[in-house]
Amino acid sequence: MLKGRHLIGPGDFSIGELDSLFCLAERLEREPEYLRQSCRGKLLATLFFEPSTRTRLSFEAAMLRLGGSCLGFAEPGSSSAAKGESLADTARIVSAYADAIVMRNPKEGAALLASRYAAVPVINAGDGGHHHPTQTLTDLLTIKRVRGAIADLTVGFCGDLKFGRTVHSLAKALSRYPRITMRFVSPPELRAPEYIKAELGTPFIETDSLERVIGGLDILYMTRVQRERFFNEEEYIRLKDSYILNSEKMRLAKKDMIVLHPLPRLNEIAPEVDEDPRAAYFRQAAYGMYVRMALLASILGCV
Ligand code: NCD
Repeated sequence: MLKGRHLIGPGDFSIGELDSLFCLAERLEREPEYLRQSCRGKLLATLFFEPSTRTRLSFEAAMLRLGGSCLGFAEPGSSSAAKGESLADTARIVSAYADAIVMRNPKEGAALLASRYAAVPVINAGDGGHHHPTQTLTDLLTIKRVRGAIADLTVGFCGDLKFGRTVHSLAKALSRYPRITMRFVSPPELRAPEYIKAELGTPFIETDSLERVIGGLDILYMTRVQRERFFNEEEYIRLKDSYILNSEKMRLAKKDMIVLHPLPRLNEIAPEVDEDPRAAYFRQAAYGMYVRMALLASILGCV
């Protein structure tokens, strides 16, 4: 039962609970009328202290499709955070207005802190360079839909593995599934943090060459170099185009490999790859709304 639960990190829900969420998301996609008005009268607060397109809009679309309503801000300058209000106070106050809170914040641990003071469920929509568990729900559902099961896969993560919170969350989540091996492809400066690697109970190798490993991958998870987390713009400019996936590199990959990306995509996937049937990143973004509908209906007790 997920009613009343927070979602702060990728390990918060059991594999069984995730399976139920994915089944519900698939049903919501198949049957557009199912749970249509189930959250009528419920309010979702979306507190976005950092930019977002997909995550915020897919949460809002999910809530509206369930018959509920949304309030919040997409621009921290327009909230009391700009006056110096603490997250603890914001969480306490917003709990009095809304039935659940979705929060994105540039500070690692922000959603966890908010959950300690909120009287309603808190969903982490990204805390700095740490975790992004609802993107992971989207990614896992996409893998399940495209591959049939989340098992027996070699998964390559490529790009900014240091600051990429979607990578941290997905790698940790995947390591709980059977027979998953991982390939971490990044420049030495952008390797996955030790604390993430230490938590993986699954075999992995690290390399700086995509060409060397792409032929053995079942899934290639491309990521954007996270400019906003760099201290030094020159370093960003030097590293930003470290990897560009194009048709030539796709020729080295298996015929049934799939390419995922949490989006937004910059130069790391050439537009020519969009036409390749193995490109699954736009489908992935679409699944994000259904899995967030399933999540909201579950934690609000509307299913
Ligand atoms: C990601 C994020 O915010 O971490 N975006 C998203 O939620 N789909 C990835 C990114 O910004 O690069």
